[in-house]
Amino acid sequence: MQAALNPFSPGSGLRPPALVGRERELEALEILVERTRRDLSSRGIVLSGLRGVGKTVLLNEMRNLAEEQGWFVVSLEARPDAAGASSIRRLLGRAVATQARTLARGKAVAATVKEALATITAFNVSLGASGVALGVERAEGRADSGDLEIDLPELVQDLCAALAERGSAFGLFIDEFQDLDSELMRALLVTQHQAGQRGWPFYIVAAGLPNLPRVLTDARSYAERLFDYRTVARLPSEQARAALVDPAGPLGLDFEDRALALLLEASGGYPYFLQEYGRAVWDAAPGPRATVDDARIAIETGLARLDDGFFRSRWDRATRSERRFMVAMATDGDGPSAVGDVARRLNIKATSLGPYRAGLISKGLVYPPEHGMIAYTVPGMDGFVDRHREDL
Ligand SMILES: Nc1ncnc2c1ncn2[C@@H]1O[C@H](COP(=O)(O)OP(=O)(O)O)[C@@H](O)[C@H]1O
Ligand SMILES: [Mg+2]
Repeated sequence: MQAALNPFSPGSGLRPPALVGRERELEALEILVERTRRDLSSRGIVLSGLRGVGKTVLLNEMRNLAEEQGWFVVSLEARPDAAGASSIRRLLGRAVATQARTLARGKAVAATVKEALATITAFNVSLGASGVALGVERAEGRADSGDLEIDLPELVQDLCAALAERGSAFGLFIDEFQDLDSELMRALLVTQHQAGQRGWPFYIVAAGLPNLPRVLTDARSYAERLFDYRTVARLPSEQARAALVDPAGPLGLDFEDRALALLLEASGGYPYFLQEYGRAVWDAAPGPRATVDDARIAIETGLARLDDGFFRSRWDRATRSERRFMVAMATDGDGPSAVGDVARRLNIKATSLGPYRAGLISKGLVYPPEHGMIAYTVPGMDGFVDRHREDL
């Protein structure tokens, strides 16, 4: 089929041609918006799952829905490096300020809006972030103590007072939430907690790795009750099928049953893999009906692309010793592995594994599903490791 018309979209955060199987999660956001409109209390939403299951895409979709409904929306993506800590605070301050300018449009600016702008300005000054002039004096002594657990709630309180007046709400959308530094994470949880108790229309909607719920409850035990936790996983076969068939059909490509079955099996229902194999079969099929041979070729080229991109981009981040750790995990297939077993396979003491384990976790390559256990964050990593043992 014509490459220029290929509808599939393998790539981190790229919106798929058919966003299938996420109706329940999107509905949860719609309910949150509707309840907020009716002044009813709700919880924020936390999405967690492996890499490539479609969390970023879903989070962006939720963000767009909230924005369409008139919410005041700010998006952040956390990063694991410590240098990111001060930059993400400034990003947050700037993003809030930039959005807040839209509140001040028009002739008569409400008193609550002026107060919110003054507080945002004070918050930004205390962070050393400047650049977005809001045209108001900063509110001395408001959101500028330098202690985020005080400043963030004050900022959100003043902003929410202005938003509530116009029936709006503040949605903070955070991707890779597990990578946020613990100080800012705690301050956000404190803020969400206070918002719930005091009726401020403020909701965090976040996405991250499978251990995110645990990271949050470790930061603040009440985090367990603050959010509606949802696991984002691979697609069940009907929906995986739709992810391939729905985009291709209208553009003139359909599938022999056995060809489709092969592609679905190779993808394991993982959205990223479905996009990669979808793209490959489109390119491989000469005619309007993909055959078993087309599917076989597509699986080969699709897998080669996954190896060179999705898998390799992560593998290359690991040091030589960290790679050995990941190879030793592969004995357990897709995992999880007991850390003690990994140590035994490497012939070292479990305690000596600590630094490698920590390094791999901070690089986002593995995560601890429970105490003493370790698992790949990327589905199918064991297969990649098997195919590349010689690269060590
Ligand atoms: N519901 C879905 N149906 C089909 N493809 C999807 C779906 N969600 C995501 N994808 C595709 O999967 C890939 C990974 O999505 P992404 O949101 O980056 O995953 P994650 O953030 O979980 O790593 C992208 O190529 C995207 O187009
Ligand atoms: Mg993502």
